[in-house]
Amino acid sequence: MRCVLVSTSLDLRGYLGANFMRAAEGIEIVDHPHDGASADVRLAVAWRPPADAFARYPNLQAVCSIGAGVDNILACPSLRPDVEVIRVVDPAQAQMMSGFVAWHVIGHHRRFATYQAQQRDAVWRRLGQRRAQDVPVGILGYGAIGRRVAADLAMLGFPVMAWSRSAKSTSQGVRGFDGAAGLEAMLRQTEVLVNLLPLTPETRGILNRDTFAKMCRGGYLIQVGRGEHLVEADLLAALESGQLAGAALDVFSGEPLLPEHPFWRHPRIIVTPHDACEVSVEAIGATFLATAEAVRNGRRPPHAIDRERGY
Ligand code: NDP
Ligand code: OXD
Repeated sequence: MRCVLVSTSLDLRGYLGANFMRAAEGIEIVDHPHDGASADVRLAVAWRPPADAFARYPNLQAVCSIGAGVDNILACPSLRPDVEVIRVVDPAQAQMMSGFVAWHVIGHHRRFATYQAQQRDAVWRRLGQRRAQDVPVGILGYGAIGRRVAADLAMLGFPVMAWSRSAKSTSQGVRGFDGAAGLEAMLRQTEVLVNLLPLTPETRGILNRDTFAKMCRGGYLIQVGRGEHLVEADLLAALESGQLAGAALDVFSGEPLLPEHPFWRHPRIIVTPHDACEVSVEAIGATFLATAEAVRNGRRPPHAIDRERGY
């Protein structure tokens, strides 16, 4: 069996490293475009594949992502509808994301940006304190990562709400919401909004003017889903009007963010370069091996996404 590595943005062979190649015993790893016996290619590891990538491999059965998200693979026009798409579920990644989100929630809660500005001007002024219990956090997406983020924020004392597509049982201190009415109800009580949704046709553009308008005034956005969830002009308007006090943005519809983009220099936006967290190469390797075994045995690979839902 052959596996092809396909990416327009990464040297996947270098990224995955020698241990990965060794672990894939019995599977020949080839680079795209593979002109050899392409009929033997039944697996792919991909990240931002070129549009025509999968047309070359008529017997491809499964494509593994190297991250939690698969939107960049599903967007590839040459991906046949019958090919399984596999995502990585890595508890260590969820833990890293949790730390990243907590950093920004506490940053807003404890007004770090104002203290930083005061320090620049050598101003000694206490700003007053609010309890964590008075800063409600709403999380869009209560999946593998959202659950961990929600549980950790609840442990820190924040009132946590989480929104998912289907109704869910929630961990201690987390209130669950679902559906359109649930979203509205959650937003009305949300001061800090955390986006942890996958990018699908239903979620594209969800961080928009209407969403911001429903939040508590002076709210804060933590955007760690995908850039295309955000309507950028609506965020700038919400910051301008004071509806939002600030935003931490880790993902963008154009990555890398262009040097002239207004987000870089906005005084109330924190930009990080899609670095909230990443899956380990070990987790990618384990997912890949489980996928290869399933494909060999004619089973559905674990962590295969629902192509209809898009996640
Ligand atoms: P999961 O698939 O485990 O969870 C997705 C959650 O979103 C589920 O709770 C799901 O609801 C909910 N959801 C999906 N569509 C809708 C909808 N239309 N309405 C309401 N809820 C919806 O994903 P992960 O937690 O593993 O990851 C989430 C996303 O985070 C990734 O897809 C990626 O975009 C982003 N990410 C960003 C990273 C970064 O570095 N910035 C790193 C890792 C991930 P239900 O439970 O009902 O199915
Ligand atoms: C992911 C990501 O999907 O890094 O894992 O965004």
